[in-house]
Amino acid sequence: MTHCIIQDLQKRYTAKRYDPVKKVSQADLAVFLEALRLSASSINSQPWKFIVIESDAAKQRMHDSFANKFQFNQKHIKACSHVILFAHKITYARADYDLVLEKNIEDNRITRDEKEAAFGSYAFAEINKDAQGQHKVWTKSQTYIALGNALHTLARLNIDSTPMEGVDSTLLSEIFANELAGYQCDVALAIGYHHPTEDYNAQSPKSRKALTEVVQII
Ligand SMILES: Cc1cc2nc3c(=O)[nH]c(=O)nc-3n(C[C@H](O)[C@H](O)[C@H](O)COP(=O)(O)O)c2cc1C
Repeated sequence: MTHCIIQDLQKRYTAKRYDPVKKVSQADLAVFLEALRLSASSINSQPWKFIVIESDAAKQRMHDSFANKFQFNQKHIKACSHVILFAHKITYARADYDLVLEKNIEDNRITRDEKEAAFGSYAFAEINKDAQGQHKVWTKSQTYIALGNALHTLARLNIDSTPMEGVDSTLLSEIFANELAGYQCDVALAIGYHHPTEDYNAQSPKSRKALTEVVQII
């Protein structure tokens, strides 16, 4: 198939070694971050925070978060260009949705008179509340929509990436306590440019189940 969307998705792959010399331009980074911001989410809740690790000091903190586990991902942190922490809100209160609706009004999506009725959608957060009164499963699901959007956007920008569920959520909460207050990070994304000779995945053929196995048209 020659469609440009398919070409993007065929081309992208999970980089396994980065070229430490090459960095993502601020112009490309701006496009990428705007794509994250525009990601869809249930009831437009946007229960996320994207923490962009750019400075050497922040990279050192991220590097240190692999002290106990998932060391196979540690090598990316200093070699890649940026790491993005996809963080989700631990609880999603009515006050959080109130901010969304106020922005809806500002953006002329709804009128102030329609706000109370629009609050009905908060039922989705209510039904996804766990026994501890938290919304983590639901809010985390939303970050994966942004992650998928990120992978395609990066492919289009010819930027390599490595999604990483192999991150130590507990240690990240300690090391990035200020940035992650009220949030949790279970998945991160390294971005940059693959090493010209040491990225064993760069030449690997794409491997996916057959269309007939994963799609059923009825
Ligand atoms: C949510 C998610 C988490 C992943 N976590 C890791 C990880 O921690 N380390 C890693 O090297 N690859 C990780 N991967 C990469 C997958 O193994 C990879 O996407 C999959 O094998 C398909 O290969 P491709 O991305 O090269 O097409 C992750 C991918 C996703 C989508």
